[in-house]
Amino acid sequence: MKQRILFVCLGNICRSPAADGIMHRLVEEAGLSDCYEIDSAGTYAGHRGELPDPRMRRAAEPRGYHLTHRSRPVREEDFEEFDLILAMDDNNYEALHRLAPSREAADRIERMVTFTREEFPDRFYVPDPYYEGREGFELVLDLLECGCRNLLAYLEDKRANG
Ligand code: 4NP
Repeated sequence: MKQRILFVCLGNICRSPAADGIMHRLVEEAGLSDCYEIDSAGTYAGHRGELPDPRMRRAAEPRGYHLTHRSRPVREEDFEEFDLILAMDDNNYEALHRLAPSREAADRIERMVTFTREEFPDRFYVPDPYYEGREGFELVLDLLECGCRNLLAYLEDKRANG
């Protein structure tokens, strides 16, 4: 059975589509594309249908990520369709809990920084880069590359050992 992972931020044009692109590539490189379904969404619908922010696409491209996701809002069915829902910051985390239709659904929500703890002990959330300069976008990509790597290792360990 496929592991279904949903990354969530506010606008679904910066952080979560980047996480989506990074995780897709890691899974593909590991030859595990058949084992994972990966998507991203936003708690705010105002950017629906848009490609990732050009600043994020520009920062991601030299790292080898071509981001083509189209922004979409989180929907109630996501809580049934995904096994793990990863929030980028505490606002996203709380907004997801408000949307969750049941306790079981809420239990699927985790913070992305759960998977960056060792390498970035002082980062308690993936910061919104929207009003930041280039370094804000690079920091997001550093956090997400680390988090996605650890996330895949965690999921693969769980798959192997139950
Ligand atoms: P994201 O970044 O949540 O990482 O996609 C943002 C995108 C849009 C806005 C804020 C943050 N906005 O205010 O429209």
